[in-house]
Amino acid sequence: MADPAVPLIGLAMTVNGSPVEVEVAPWEALAHTLRTRLGLTGTKVSCDVQACGACTVLVDGLPRSACTFLAYEARGRDVLTIEGLARSDDDLDPVQRAFLDESAFQCGFCTSGMLLAARAFIDTEPDADDAALIEHMSGNLCRCTGYLSIVAAILRARDATADAGGGFATGGFATGGFATGGGG
Ligand code: FES
Repeated sequence: MADPAVPLIGLAMTVNGSPVEVEVAPWEALAHTLRTRLGLTGTKVSCDVQACGACTVLVDGLPRSACTFLAYEARGRDVLTIEGLARSDDDLDPVQRAFLDESAFQCGFCTSGMLLAARAFIDTEPDADDAALIEHMSGNLCRCTGYLSIVAAILRARDATADAGGGFATGGFATGGFATGGGG
């Protein structure tokens, strides 16, 4: 509930390719703005302390935890949420297609953040090795799928994105878990 004694501030940004103007509280998290003011509820909030990655969105192409990233910090910047990842309902992003093909989700609560973090990895580190993938995704936790299928999906998506085939073997992830070895 907004405090009526605190004036809201105007914010202009681009969300999923469209210019947006919205009023926000000075301390408001971007996740709150997206979900409650713009109706973009695909961004999930879980831990609220930048520990689980469920709220990951891309700001100027880089993953950010929207639960702690101030909305005002997004002024003048490009924000991509899960609602803007697919080009259309019939033209999914390769990352979305790969998650479907690899059955890389169960409850789906982590999936929005996973997909966007994976998209950023593919776009910013196209030649990275397995260790870099683990490091990049280590801030995104999944409590039900296990990580092997997620890693396989990201590698499949990278192959689909690349001009030529290739990709990395997934055997290095046999213990499961991006960072801790946990099986999910
Ligand atoms: Fe349930 Fe990841 S699919 S937490």
